[in-house]
This record gives sequence, C-alpha cells and structure tokens, in this order.
Amino acid sequence: MKLWGGRFRKEENKLMEEFNKSFDYDNVLYKKDIEGSIAHVYMQVHCKLLTEEEGIAITDGLVGIYKDILNGKLLLEGNYEDIHSFIEINLINRIGDLGKKLHTCRSRNDQVATDMRLYAKEKAINIINLISNLKNTIKEVAYENPVIMPGYTHLQRAQVVTFKHHLMAYYSMFDRDEKRLKNALEILDESPLGCGALAGTTHSIDRNITKEKLGFKRIVENYIDGVSDRDYLLELMSNFSIIMMHLSRLSEELILWSSQEFQFVEIDDLYTTGSSIMPQKKNPDGAELIRGKTGRVYGNLFGLLTVMKGLPLAYNKDMQEDKEGFFDSVNTIEMCVSIMEKIIYTIKVNEDKMKEAVKSGFLN
Ligand code: ARG
Repeated sequence: MKLWGGRFRKEENKLMEEFNKSFDYDNVLYKKDIEGSIAHVYMQVHCKLLTEEEGIAITDGLVGIYKDILNGKLLLEGNYEDIHSFIEINLINRIGDLGKKLHTCRSRNDQVATDMRLYAKEKAINIINLISNLKNTIKEVAYENPVIMPGYTHLQRAQVVTFKHHLMAYYSMFDRDEKRLKNALEILDESPLGCGALAGTTHSIDRNITKEKLGFKRIVENYIDGVSDRDYLLELMSNFSIIMMHLSRLSEELILWSSQEFQFVEIDDLYTTGSSIMPQKKNPDGAELIRGKTGRVYGNLFGLLTVMKGLPLAYNKDMQEDKEGFFDSVNTIEMCVSIMEKIIYTIKVNEDKMKEAVKSGFLN
C-alpha cells in the first residue's frame, strides 16, 4: 500500500518494494508521527486550510489510531512502505477521503525530519536522566569508600590514592557527558515542520503554530537545511560514543579489579555468571558486555557519517539509513548506563586487599 503512484504504470517490483521499505524499523516513531500530524492539522485549521469540523474529524481519527495501537487493536505490521504511510492509509480507511487532506502543505521529507527530532529529543532527555542517576550512585559509593589503594600509571603501581578519588574521576567524565548531551539538545531543538519537500509550500501556513504545539524552542531557519540535516543525530551519536568509551574504561577496571590477581572489588552475583565446567569462576559478564557493545555504538556513528558524506542537497533516500543505527545506539546506551549503575550500586569493596597492595611496590 502506497501514498504515491499517479504517474507510475508498472507494478513495483516485489524485491524493490521490500528494499524500499522502512516500516519494519521506523514503526517505533508512531507516537511522534501522530503528535506531528495533530499539530499540523491544528495549524491547517488556524490557517483556514481546513474547516474546524474537518480538523476535529481528522484529529479524532488520529487519536483513535493512537489508542488502538496502544491497546493492541491496531498492530504495527503489514505491507506499508513506512510509518507515515501506515498512519495516513489507516486514517483514510477510518474517516474516508477527508484523511487525504492531512497531506496538504506537508511532505514526508519534513514529516520524517520532525519525527526524528522529536524522538531524538525525548531519548536525549531520558539518557541525560540515566547519566545523572549513574553520577549520583558513583558519588554515593565513592564517598562510602574513602579507602586507600594504589594509583597506577602504565598499569604499574605509582602513588597512593583513595578508591573514592579514583571513582570520582568517572563522576567527572559522566558530568561532562551530561553537559555535552544538554548542549546537543539545545542545538537540535528546532522544528523542521513546514519546510515541505525542500522549499515550503505555496499555501500560507504558520510554522510558529506547529513549533509551539510540538514544544520546539525555535524553527529551522533554512528550508533546504531543515529536510537534509541529520547533524543532530550525528552529534548525539558522537556523544553516545564518548559515553561508551567512558563506560568501557570503567568496565575494564571493574573486570581487572575483580580478578583473582587484584581482588579489589567483588561484582554482585546478579551481574556475573558462573562456568559449568569451572565452578570456581565468576565471570564479570555485565561489565564485559558494556565494553563489547561500545563497538556497535562507534560503528553506528561511522555508518551515518559515511551515509551523509557526499549527499547533494536536499533529501535523498540514502537518509532513510539514519534510523536503525540511531535506534540501536539509543537502546544500547540506555541499557549500558542502567546496568553500570546497578553494578556500581551493588559492588563490594575489599579494603584489606587494596591496603595490602599499597604496602608493596615502592609507592610514593
Ligand atoms: N521513509 C523515509 C525516510 O525515512 C521517509 C521520507 C520519504 N521521502 C521521500 N521523498 N520518499 O527517509
């Protein structure tokens, strides 16, 4: 089922149809897509492009779709090209041809740009909260454990430090990560809705109405930029990569410290696994997985940088490739930050072992 096809003759090749589709993964945008559409209809009524009755009927249809997705009556599946087609075709099925008016003065190009910005904003705010929670836990555990331990350079015992001081180094890193995310959030907080396919519309619309409705701080100034910019995803993914690098360093230290060789800390059983053949072993799987998942977050950043490189203005279908990597990075970061917080919260610090290590090795 498609939204276009006026000048097309032949049935689209099945393989091409499959190749073109993004519905299997962009359906997570359903809430943002409906939010964006409701704001758009509100603006259309305000600008007299729809009557009030038409506006109410379309909005009710959209709210109905939203509710039915939530309660499981309408499944996010079927042969649709993307989430935008899914919502619009379902709207037309519900309220008839009037549903087609939702598309007036809007293109899927500014629609998808709006959906992704809204989604990125929500996720960035959630990740900022998770980082802040991790910071609080690190501080709590650090202040509970002002015990002395060896400080290292080149992984050789160098000077005496405290576990508190060492752990608080990570607090500083995550504090900067939080600031970077807030900064990215500030920059991306612009509404691209109304940019149309690339050069707006001949109808007289009011982009400030949709901006206000959707809670954006500003509107995108340049229309061509509005539909072709994916910097905000790249910036967030760069920030995610730095966060993963920090998490990975912390993971590596936890893995070392919990080994038989160090025995500085013990990771709670909940975040480790045993070995069936070597029952004495306790493997730090949680920390290892965080260290390992760093690779995919870096990879997703490089994937999108490469997709965007060399693209002429404005929208190109290549840009549909922004989604899977970004969604995967968001899910990975959310999980890794949450698991690390739990590992730190439940960690047991072995004061005696740390003291013992300070005694040998000619520490200053
Ligand atoms: N699924 C598309 C994407 O994610 C939506 C935009 C399609 N625009 C177009 N002109 N075909 O990029």
